[in-house]
This record gives sequence, C-alpha cells and structure tokens, in this order.
Amino acid sequence: MKLSIIYDSKTGNTKQAAEWIADGMNSVDGIDAKTFSIKEVDIDFVKESKGVVIGSPSYAANMTPDLHAWLLTTGGKLALAGNLAGAFATEQYTHGGGELVVQSIMTTELVNGMLYYSSGGGCGKPYIHIGPVGVNGNMETHNALENYKDYFTIYGERFAKKADELFG
Ligand SMILES: Cc1cc2nc3c(=O)[nH]c(=O)nc-3n(C[C@H](O)[C@H](O)[C@H](O)COP(=O)(O)O)c2cc1C
Repeated sequence: MKLSIIYDSKTGNTKQAAEWIADGMNSVDGIDAKTFSIKEVDIDFVKESKGVVIGSPSYAANMTPDLHAWLLTTGGKLALAGNLAGAFATEQYTHGGGELVVQSIMTTELVNGMLYYSSGGGCGKPYIHIGPVGVNGNMETHNALENYKDYFTIYGERFAKKADELFG
C-alpha cells in the first residue's frame, strides 16, 4: 500500500520530520511510503496513496503561504476523498503555534472529504492528540528537533497500521 507525506520546508526541519514519519510507516509490512516537497510532488504516486500526511513549519502560527496555496490548487484536485489524512508541524518555540498549524491542515483535509487520523489516545502512550509537532533548537537551547524524532516515527507507524486495517 502506498502512503504519501507532503511538506513545505525552507530550512530542512519539516523535511526531516517527514522522513521520520516515512521511516515509521515503512517499518510496517507491505507499506511503501514516500516523502515529497510541495515543489516536486509525484502526483500519480499521491493519487494511488490510501493515506496522505501533510506538514508545515509554523509561520506566525499558521501553515506557510506556499503550502496553503498548494492545498487550494493542486492539493484540492487530487481526489483524495475517503482516504486517510494526517498532519504535522515544526516550530522554534514550544508555544509557537504548531498545533494550530496541524489543525488548519486538518481542516483543509476534512473539507476535501478525507478521514483524519491523529492516533490520539487510541494507541496508549505517547498520546499524540492532534498530530506530531517538533520544536527545533533555533531559539530554545533546551530543545532540538531530534528530541521529537520518536513522536514522528511512532505516528508514522500508527498511521500506516490504521491505513492497512482500513484499506489493506
Ligand atoms: C516567516 C517565519 C515565521 C515563523 N513563525 C514562527 C512561529 O510563529 N512560531 C514558531 O515557533 N516558529 C516560527 N518560525 C520558525 C519555523 O517555524 C521553524 O524554524 C521551522 O522548524 C522551520 O521549518 P523548516 O526548517 O522546515 O523550514 C517562523 C519562521 C519564519 C521564516
């Protein structure tokens, strides 16, 4: 089963988070997960994907304007209704709006008719309430994106297992 992770990333943090999600997905038997920057999406692969996870850096507690524009144009024409959806974010402040970014991506996915999956409390700890968010070490010396690696890989694995359960 194909799964796609699509992201915007200017300085590499969200790209890294996307790759960790893919690692978690690809640890599940029968899953072929690939990551795509919005600048080079393999449209055919995404259309064949039973699940799509979308990520963005927090820009003033919003998704990036480039991702928003992509979702309103190309992303809206991918006929993904009925497929599984997820979202993730990176930020440089612990309270930098990452979960709002996840929520706004989720809203767009719901508008497109997708079925949103958070994992939430359904898989025990760690609870990933809405979607994984990682804080980098740009501004907070106690933080580092690497500290959040497990949340992204665990989320990827859970997402893939749920997609397999629903569509496998
Ligand atoms: C224009 C701009 C706005 C930003 N706004 C926020 C913000 O509101 N909250 C925050 O925590 N980080 C903010 N950041 C930092 C990025 O979200 C953070 O460094 C992120 O990990 C960058 O992802 P990338 O490396 O994938 O581009 C902002 C960065 C830029 C360039």
